Amino acid sequence: MNAMDAARAGQRQPSRSHQPRSSHEARVTYAPRSPRRASLVCVVGAGYVGLTTAACLADLGHDVCCVESNPARLDALHRGEIPIVEPGLEEIVAATTAAGTLRFTSDIAAAMDGCAIAMLCVGTPPRATGDPDLRQLAAAAAQVSAAATRDAVIVVKSTVPPGTCEAIGLLAVDHARAGVTITIASNPEFLREGHAVTDFMHPDRVVVGSAGARAAELVADLYPEDVAMVTCDTRAAELVKYASNTFLAIKISFANEVAGMCERLGADALEVLEGVGLDSRIGSEFLHPGAGYGGSCLPKDVAGFAALGHTLGWPVPLAEAAQQVNTRARHSVTDKLRLLLGDLAGRTVTVLGLAFKAGTDDVRDSPAVALVHQLSRAGASVHVFDPLVFLPGLPATQVPDPYEAALGADALVVATAWPAFAALDYDRLAKAMNGRVVVDAVNTMDLALLAEAGLEPYGTGRGRPVTFHPVVWQPLQWTASG
Ligand code: UDX
Repeated sequence: MNAMDAARAGQRQPSRSHQPRSSHEARVTYAPRSPRRASLVCVVGAGYVGLTTAACLADLGHDVCCVESNPARLDALHRGEIPIVEPGLEEIVAATTAAGTLRFTSDIAAAMDGCAIAMLCVGTPPRATGDPDLRQLAAAAAQVSAAATRDAVIVVKSTVPPGTCEAIGLLAVDHARAGVTITIASNPEFLREGHAVTDFMHPDRVVVGSAGARAAELVADLYPEDVAMVTCDTRAAELVKYASNTFLAIKISFANEVAGMCERLGADALEVLEGVGLDSRIGSEFLHPGAGYGGSCLPKDVAGFAALGHTLGWPVPLAEAAQQVNTRARHSVTDKLRLLLGDLAGRTVTVLGLAFKAGTDDVRDSPAVALVHQLSRAGASVHVFDPLVFLPGLPATQVPDPYEAALGADALVVATAWPAFAALDYDRLAKAMNGRVVVDAVNTMDLALLAEAGLEPYGTGRGRPVTFHPVVWQPLQWTASG
């Protein structure tokens, strides 16, 4: 069937770039598969990834048992409390637990009884070297293998360095019961916090790495119909995750590089990057300058990618440069405030936002939290407001109202792009503040309206030449004499 026939038949064909080059290459298929069979699935880990995965699989019609070892978190789940902020998740968990297609337990043996698919969604936190700590994953794989009462596929959804699935496969064989065959598949997740349910139900692609077709089919059948399915070997699937997040980080860091240029040129980075992003080969997503990327994934995965490069004897300077640019970006606000206010000791600085991005209460590796620590170390008195986050032990005064947070501030920083911040009463902010400087690190405020309120607004990469930078670029001068 050629592309035109397929189009008429309503079947999307892989675009040319997806056509497999040979049998061993990754294959991308869209063709709707046979009606999906409901499967009995054990999901290990009820964190950001595991809980979303378990609930969405149950919502797709599978029979899911989610294993959580943390007693407090398990009790909360049994009370119907969702420990993470994810739009739509609470409703899905309530509906599927009520329907009996999702249940929670701490007992892996009970969860694996008669189960042919175990999905490991446990943490793989970074070690100091950048390599992930795989102990939780190995322990979960051993327990699942020992508990399997029938041939089963262990699906590794956690982000792991290439080669991990092979090692987990060997470990599983050591723990499997006699007569039980355990196979391994890699099925990395691409869930953005704040969009996880949407990203699970409407993924750009599902990547399944396995040694055999049977395991790939079992995993593929878990997902919605007619989703782009990339089937490959486990190493390729494991690397897709690192490569994807590293590329996203490179895009963000490139946007931050352009922003620094624009501040010195007096050009508007949002205009420049809009012009760049409209090129269909580039795309506008993840091309927004800010205070640097944060969160529990991008920094970890870029570090993991760079560590992998070194382990392979193949250093990856692009990834390392993205890290360096990001470190600079995460200090750019403090640098600006020093240039604008001089010594920060004794100054009062308000920081609006603590979450690593809007739409979540997650502060892991948050650039906003890093900023608060930088300002505190510089001797500033820091006042903070975030609509969702209160962070005990933060070296700052945390208040439940943005205008109260702005009282007496010599400068105010918007560090998380919460939409509510753009909607604040700028005149009221101006009256509350002592100084005039507003640094909108994440380009979420209306700079013109801030200026109309008598404030002195600075975005990231935005607007007039920021003459406080040490090198002030002078436009070329042409004289009549040429
Ligand atoms: C990321 C990946 O997007 C996702 O595919 C993967 O599964 C997990 O890691 P997440 O960490 O939830 O998701 O956050 P994301 O929305 O990707 O943002 C990461 C960081 O980049 C945030 O700090 C965000 O503020 C920053 N960012 C994002 C930018 O600075 N500019 C952008 O244009 C986009």
